Amino acid sequence: MTTSYSLLNNETGEKVDLPLVKGTLGPAGADVGKVYDKMDLFTYDPGFTSTCSCKSAITYIDGDQGVLLYRGYPVDQLANHSSFIEVAYLILHGELPNKTELDEFDASIRRHTMINESLLSFYKGFNYDAHPMAMLTGIVGSLSAFYHDTTNNKDPKHREIFAHRMIAKIPTIAAAAYKKYFGQPFMYPKNSLDYCSNLLHMMFAVPAEDYEINPVAAKALDVLFILHADHEQNASTSTVRMAGSTGTNPYAAISSGIAALWGPAHGGANEAVLKMLEEIGDVKNVQPFMDKVKDKNSGVRLMGFGHRVYKNFDPRATIIREQCHKVLKELKINDPQLELAMKLEEIALNDDYFKSRKLYPNVDFYSGIIYKALGIPVNMFTPMFAIARTVGWVAHWNEMNADPAGLKIARPRQVYTGAPVREYQAISTR
Ligand code: ACO
Repeated sequence: MTTSYSLLNNETGEKVDLPLVKGTLGPAGADVGKVYDKMDLFTYDPGFTSTCSCKSAITYIDGDQGVLLYRGYPVDQLANHSSFIEVAYLILHGELPNKTELDEFDASIRRHTMINESLLSFYKGFNYDAHPMAMLTGIVGSLSAFYHDTTNNKDPKHREIFAHRMIAKIPTIAAAAYKKYFGQPFMYPKNSLDYCSNLLHMMFAVPAEDYEINPVAAKALDVLFILHADHEQNASTSTVRMAGSTGTNPYAAISSGIAALWGPAHGGANEAVLKMLEEIGDVKNVQPFMDKVKDKNSGVRLMGFGHRVYKNFDPRATIIREQCHKVLKELKINDPQLELAMKLEEIALNDDYFKSRKLYPNVDFYSGIIYKALGIPVNMFTPMFAIARTVGWVAHWNEMNADPAGLKIARPRQVYTGAPVREYQAISTR
């Protein structure tokens, strides 16, 4: 392996060494930080396809091999043997907890599930048809107006309390958005329940009736949340880091991550997959739809396919596919949309357009079908993703703040393409 890189100006012969920043796995990064100073040159990489924004010890992805590790542990092992709360501890602390550590962490998360009562009245101000992601962005941003007693980002204890509060309150906030959308009374959390059962309770229970948690649904959610808990420097996590790099209030930084997650190219894809399946409607319409997808002028994409990093397969999609079949079987749901999804998958996996571009089903291709089977409405799919990804966001915010070098304000440069210098013209002469 090459151990040294330099950037050469072919005309002048001027050379700048690019020191290597090495990690434990994966390619090293060539440090281009001095290029501007030494060469009066920027590096240009829109979409950051080859650019590392930080060092991180949390999650590792090998897109070619379809590998996803949280703190070194393969995600399939965690999905099969662990729980979301244990994985949250692992992602935050770097090691799997022993029994006492897990019990203490679990108890702390349960203790922080309630939100300030004043926040509940904020929901009343939203329009009746507000998207739950809009409410989530607003309410999480509003947490910054409440819990500022513990937001000193230099204090490890404050960072821990913030992490616990955020992880504990996000299901409560999302469930309240659901209740607002459906015009039902808000259900307070029940801390005797585990994380996912409590979320189901807050979403589906009503004061007028008893509500029994379905353990199949709670388990399915738990696995989905493990698979969505972190994904290194994705768009929303990078947004949290970028906002956090200014030293802003941490709840405001998480709110900016939620806003970034909402887009259909990111967390909004699970909602877009279901809308696409509804639009296709029937297996007989699959081929004409695929023809449209392959026609560059149509602007139509096969939602739930393709990934910036995974160019072989998305390991989360493999687990979710199995989980999807299991849930539908156990809940005795015969969903024609699953048949439709399978047909799309079969055609795409054998089609040159997709094969040559290395486009495979991603995690969101199946997650929407599971959410639908659990009775979760389409506009709550992305909030479910946000609940799980909150663990990753707070872990990255913590990691960044624990390392003073990580606190450098994120401030990219640009290649300016506007007008050159010109003189102001008086309006009478324009
Ligand atoms: N359907 C059809 N064609 C596609 C798709 C798709 N889903 N995805 C990419 N392509 C094509 C592009 O048109 C392009 O073709 P070209 O080389 O002939 O121009 C080629 O594949 C490469 O695509 P890019 O857009 O350059 O790939 P990029 O890495 O920037 O995009 C992305 C990744 C945004 C995920 C893209 O694949 C996409 O839009 N997928 C659908 C949305 C989706 O499922 N998003 C969820 C991502 S996973 C997550 O956030 C949890």
